[in-house]
Formats: sequence, structure tokens, C-alpha cells
Amino acid sequence: MTTMSSVAGDVRLTDFLQTELTQLTNEGLYRACRLIEGEQLPRVRLAGQLTIMLSSNNYLGLATHPKLKDAAKQAIDVYGCGAAASRLIAGNMELHEKLEERIARFKGAEAALVFNSGYTANVGVLSTLVGPGDVVFSDELNHASIIDGSRLSKAEIKIYPHKDMNSLEAMLSTSPTGGRKLIVTDGVFSMDGDIAPLPDIVTLARRFGAAIMVDDAHATGVLGKDGRGIASFFGLEDAIDIQMGTLSKALGCFGAYVVGSKQLKEFLVNKCRAFIYTTALPPSVIASALAAFDLLENESWRRETLHAHADFLREGLRNLGYDCSGSETQIIPVLIGDSARTVSLSQRLLAKGVFACGVRPPTVPEGKSRLRATVMATHSQEDLQQTLDAFAAAGRELKLIG
Ligand SMILES: Cc1ncc(COP(=O)(O)O)c(C=O)c1O
Repeated sequence: MTTMSSVAGDVRLTDFLQTELTQLTNEGLYRACRLIEGEQLPRVRLAGQLTIMLSSNNYLGLATHPKLKDAAKQAIDVYGCGAAASRLIAGNMELHEKLEERIARFKGAEAALVFNSGYTANVGVLSTLVGPGDVVFSDELNHASIIDGSRLSKAEIKIYPHKDMNSLEAMLSTSPTGGRKLIVTDGVFSMDGDIAPLPDIVTLARRFGAAIMVDDAHATGVLGKDGRGIASFFGLEDAIDIQMGTLSKALGCFGAYVVGSKQLKEFLVNKCRAFIYTTALPPSVIASALAAFDLLENESWRRETLHAHADFLREGLRNLGYDCSGSETQIIPVLIGDSARTVSLSQRLLAKGVFACGVRPPTVPEGKSRLRATVMATHSQEDLQQTLDAFAAAGRELKLIG
């Protein structure tokens, strides 16, 4: 039944939505999902056109690996499709426990806890571990999920300029001594592809009695021994209190994990709302994640090729005159600045058969719009060369490069 007030409410909502959408369009910030047909391969069909995929986090190509597919299919046969309940009620199946044991062993940690996504892991962990009276020290380029989790926690948030250890030191030294202090950083920065200065962060954390949380979303499977992540890359496994990582990127699956002490796990199981109040991941996803961890240890060529591809593409783009900022990894930003010009470059590239997604505010700071190019181990040399040729032609057409 429709009442007068609900009709009036609907009109107000419609007006609000249209005003907001028009404003986004006018500012060049309107977004829409693109349709990828078929599998997540190095070349995909996008709006009917075969295109080199340069925007995927499927860094090692595992999302389409036959072993991951087989593991998922078998798990469906044995365990069914859904986990049917949250972990604490009746959704804790043997595969969940097996995966947590596997991750803890892989990371050399006491315990691991699986979360339903990287977003919920960060929001859940941060909002559970700190609260009013505590301080979170957060790099200005940390992922949105870290920002949201910190806000939800109601702790004081001190944002230090990107990787600026002098500022972090100053903030730590002037921070009240009462509550808990937590330094949180992306391991590999998601939009910039550079690496956090973890050794310096560890030194400061020890000096000022702060805990450290690292988001390993883009280092998992990519950096460190067998892809164990940023702590392993720096040999600092024992110095990091909380390591969060995703199963959704280099591992080609879905979900996330948090590793640390047994106490940390017990605490999160008891207190973390993002863990408690959601249905457990389906067995098929867990099974393919288990298969992915096997491949990290057995197919090291994927990691090696990924790094070689990244070096080739980054150097090629820089030689063309593009600004790839401080990229050191498979994530290669191509800084343009202006949002409209960023979109134009992305469209020109697409017309030449290369899909490199434009990233605009609020995902990146104002005036720092860019293409976020990411390579995959399964790209061929021909894919990479064709990509560089497309960047050369599109950049010259738009007068972005000489
Ligand atoms: C640094 C970082 N943390 C967390 C996430 C969220 O992970 P997920 O996509 O699994 O929710 C992402 C990816 O979007 C990310 O880039």
C-alpha cells in the first residue's frame, strides 16, 4: 500500500539520486561496471572486443588455473555449495580449518583466521582492536578499507604523509601515552605499486611501543619467499603483530586472512563483528585457495615471470615519457593528473585493444588521476609489446608524451 508520505519520500530520493549522478558526470567522476565476457585471461572479451587485460589483480594467472577449478568442483561434490551458517554457529567446515592451518604454516605464524573479503578483514580487525582513547597511525595512501575500519573504531586517526617516516616519528613522539597505538600500512600500495618502508616502521614501533598491522593484499603471492608477503620480503616476520592478506588477488580466489598470535585469533573470533555476523565462505572457494597455496610453492616461475614482465613494462612506459611514480612492483601507475584526460587515455587505449582502467578521486587524491596498469605472469611478450605500442600511439595522439 502506498501512503502519501512514502510517495513524497520517493520523490525526494529520486531528486537526490539524480542530482548526485549529474554532478558526478559533470565532474568526470561517473563510474559504471564493464562487462568481461568469459574467463579472466590475459586477453579478455570486453564489450565484444578482444582486449589485453591490464587491469586485473589476477597477477599470477591462478584465477583460471585448472587445479583451482578442479579443487572447487570436487569440493562442491563433497561438501555442497554453501557453508549454510556463520563460522561460530554451524558454518565451520573442515576445509575452513584446513585452510587456516595451511596459511599459518605458510606465513610462519601461530594462527590464521579467514575472513570473507579483504574489505571486511580490515574493517573488522581495525574496529575491534582499537577504540576511543587509542591512536591509529595510517599512511595517507592506505586502502579505503583501512580508512573505513579506522573510522569505525572511533580511535583517533593520525594520517602521515606517504611513507614519510620523519612525520610518523613526530606523530608517535607527541602522542599521549595512555591508550594503544597501532601503525597500519599497505605492504604494496594498491594504486601506486610502491613498497612500505617496513624496517623503519618496525624501528619506530619498537621505540614508541606501537603495534603494527600490514595489509598484504598486493604482496601476497608476489613478494617474499614463495610469495609469503612483505614481512618475508624484509625478513621481519617476527616483528609484525597483524598481517592481513587477500585470497582474491594473486591467489585468484576470494576472501582474506589475518595472521598473528593465537591470542589475536581467539580475540577476533570472540569480538570481531565482521567475522561473527556473516556466513562462512563456501567450501569451493576455500578448496581453490588451498590449491593456490600449493601452486605458490610449486610454480615459482609465475612470480619470477611477473617481476620480469613488470620491469619490462615499467621501463618501457618510462622510456616513452610516462610518469610511473615510485612503482616497484606489478602495479604500475601511469600518472596523468586530470580526470578527463585520464579517461581519454583509457578510451584511446581500449580502441587499440588494451584495457587499462582509469582511477580517479576519491580512489586517488585530487589531481592524481592515473591509469593503474597491472601485469600478469601469463601475459606474453607480444601482449606487453602491443601494450607499449598502444601507449605510445595513444599518448602522442593526446599530446601526453612527445
Ligand atoms: C590494499 C587492499 N586492501 C584490501 C583490499 C580489499 O580486498 P578484497 O577485494 O578481498 O575485499 C584491496 C582490494 O581491493 C586492497 O587493494
